[in-house]
Amino acid sequence: MRRSQLAVGSTMHALGDTVAAAELALERTDPRTVGEEQAITSSSALVAAERYEDLGLLGEGGMGRVTRVRDVDLMRELAVKRLRPELRGDRRLLRQFLWEARVTAYLDHPNIVPLHDLALTGDDELFFTMKFVDGIALDEAITQLKEEGAGRSAMARELTLPRRLRLFVQLCRAIEFAHARGVLHRDLKPANIMLGEHGELIVMDWGLACPLPGATGEALRHVMPKTDGAFGSLSGTPLYMSPEQAQGQELDARSDVYTLGVILYELVALTRPYSGATVSEVLLHVTQGERTPLAEAAPTASPSLVAVVERAMAREPGERYPSVRALREDLEIVLDGGTPDAEAASLVTRFGRFYGREHNPWLAALRLKDFEVLIFAAALLGAGIALVVVSVIQIGVILLIVASVMALMVKIPWFRRLRASGD
Ligand SMILES: Nc1ncnc2c1ncn2[C@@H]1O[C@H](COP(=O)(O)OP(=O)(O)O)[C@@H](O)[C@H]1O
Ligand SMILES: [Mg+2]
Repeated sequence: MRRSQLAVGSTMHALGDTVAAAELALERTDPRTVGEEQAITSSSALVAAERYEDLGLLGEGGMGRVTRVRDVDLMRELAVKRLRPELRGDRRLLRQFLWEARVTAYLDHPNIVPLHDLALTGDDELFFTMKFVDGIALDEAITQLKEEGAGRSAMARELTLPRRLRLFVQLCRAIEFAHARGVLHRDLKPANIMLGEHGELIVMDWGLACPLPGATGEALRHVMPKTDGAFGSLSGTPLYMSPEQAQGQELDARSDVYTLGVILYELVALTRPYSGATVSEVLLHVTQGERTPLAEAAPTASPSLVAVVERAMAREPGERYPSVRALREDLEIVLDGGTPDAEAASLVTRFGRFYGREHNPWLAALRLKDFEVLIFAAALLGAGIALVVVSVIQIGVILLIVASVMALMVKIPWFRRLRASGD
């Protein structure tokens, strides 16, 4: 694969030319006559011949084919993504692919896959190069963990529940950053998340990303005009879609919050919340919220963790965390052994935690159960004090009555006579 001269010195103008060349190539080639086999053969031949030496297929999703290559000029390994051969004739998908490359490049964050270059093969086929993530996709890791149970395998030791939760925090950080830059991922799922060999989590596959509604999304639209038609339709992966996504409604940041909730559920329980034999059955369960509660799927999970997942996965967007940041912060409270917002339902508890966090680390460490014990003890103490106060009042009243009676008796004539005869 040799970078086309058109893309060299990649300015916005050159990128425009790149796409124009790719589109021109589409026009030249009737997609119906280009079979999968022919397309693979031609690109493989180029890969072998020039700068990028083909090291084999890394993975394939609904849209793309990712191969591992060796950049012989810079002497390093990279990953190359291209459209699946059977989709290359589709102009709409080509534009969406270009958008994916641009959005990924726009999101420069340690937990988002770095994109290096966008270029054309000698066959005018669009491709982009990115960091080769030497690791494992999260879905594979979860499958392995599930198969091995709580055994002593390397994976089980590597990915204990607290470590899985800390990885999830990295995932939240990436999505928080994307949202701050006006990008909604829309296709978060374990297959699109990779775990690198140095413990890093990397979010891949921004192919279905779209601008967020409102001001932040507007800024993105300004720097990168959205391509036609590709984002309005129902798209995503049913098991990980938010109810509003499953219904084809307009989405905001809370849709990714929901999907993050589904991923957190799976990280805790190692099973998925929804089931269904067909896509439409899954979609129905998602829209109606018919799923196994986490407390049932993972009976050993702490009530705090369950509360966080349940709040992130609330069917109504208004009942979810308003942002990924709020979700991350609440989960971090759980990791610190505190009481998350999602669990601290009563005002008293919230006040206690707020006060504790601000002024008293001992109070901050208290959990909901400790608060319940404290409140019970305070109630007992209050009742005791009330009893003492009532008793004191009662004694006072009795003394008053006795004194009044005595004073009255002094004024009564027969009592005076009685005293006088006594004298
Ligand atoms: N940079 C990369 N390094 C290593 N493996 C990758 C890389 N990018 C993708 N993959 C693998 O290829 C698979 C498909 O890539 P993805 O970008 O999700 O394609 P699609 O858009 O078709 O879903 C991923 O699940 C992952 O296993
Ligand atoms: Mg994918």
